[in-house]
Amino acid sequence: MTHMTIPQTSTARPPAKSELYASIASQLRSLLENERDFIANAANFASLVFYSLPDLNWAGFYLHKNDELVLGPFQGKPACVRIAMGKGVCGTAAQQRQTILVDNVHEFPGHIACDSESNSEIVLPLIINNEQLIGVFDLDSPLFGRFDDDDARGLTELAEIFIAMSAKL
Ligand code: SME
Repeated sequence: MTHMTIPQTSTARPPAKSELYASIASQLRSLLENERDFIANAANFASLVFYSLPDLNWAGFYLHKNDELVLGPFQGKPACVRIAMGKGVCGTAAQQRQTILVDNVHEFPGHIACDSESNSEIVLPLIINNEQLIGVFDLDSPLFGRFDDDDARGLTELAEIFIAMSAKL
């Protein structure tokens, strides 16, 4: 009788998004557990996300200061520094305090093009105690329609871990 061995590569599959986000969440807790400095943790958070999720060309923070958004720690190409509340995807997410998912940034009215390679984007507001907006977390992709509701859920959980372990209350 001949036994056939199925090579591992034929059964290998990329992890489901929920598994990927669970793994990133566990890495994030370890990365932040002994540190409470906001900027240091924000920088490591942006780097962990940028290097863990596929098909990103930018991941980082805009921080809420004097009623505008100012560039914070990020990974990717240099970006515009100040965004007014209500402007672009970031300013809209900040003003509405809602996560915004954009499949095609070229169709978003007022989109601010920092990197011409970006085609889709997701922006999450960062809110402490259901009240204080501290900024937004922004991810860009060169793919159209890169982000879906699973990404929104996974990233929301990561942002909650980051806020709980880093933000001054
Ligand atoms: N595209 C964003 C601006 C920030 S960059 O993508 C890094 C926006 O429209 O708000």
